[in-house]
Amino acid sequence: MTQPDEQTTVRVDVDVNGRHHELAVPTSTVLSDLLRDELGLQGVRTSCERAVCGACTVLVDGTPTASCSTFAFDVDGAAVRTVEGLATEGALSPEQQAFAECGGFQCGFCTSGMLVLTKALLDEDPDPSRETIRAWISSNTCRCTGYEMILESVERAAQLRAEQGMGARR
Ligand code: FES
Ligand code: FES
Repeated sequence: MTQPDEQTTVRVDVDVNGRHHELAVPTSTVLSDLLRDELGLQGVRTSCERAVCGACTVLVDGTPTASCSTFAFDVDGAAVRTVEGLATEGALSPEQQAFAECGGFQCGFCTSGMLVLTKALLDEDPDPSRETIRAWISSNTCRCTGYEMILESVERAAQLRAEQGMGARR
């Protein structure tokens, strides 16, 4: 039986945080490795590597995606946003500002995933109820905060976005 050749390379054309990249990577490369190792985006965290904890969450065409369990070739032609792509011109995004204000992180390991998850939620629903927020973030694990301050952070991010005139998807 023919075994798959892990070293066969595949071309991946992808926009990451607004910059276009043309890469050739082994077919077995997962998105988190492409982002961290090929592009140096170390804000993408990995922990379980089984699509369970959510630490590695990035946005693929606006959809929260477990980058540890997504092949790099699956994002060919897509736009990826990582935590590094949230701040603009040195200013914290509303999501980042809110988490800093409300103590939405302690060790910070889950934070990059939580931040992009928050952005995706508020792009879809600029004024979510607490129950909606709770259900949305249930995909991601935080071992430190007990979640209450994360819920407050998401609510504060919604407030900041409204103050800045940011509605749904931008
Ligand atoms: S590291 Fe990807 S879901 Fe846990
Ligand atoms: S802040 Fe430590 S895991 Fe969430």
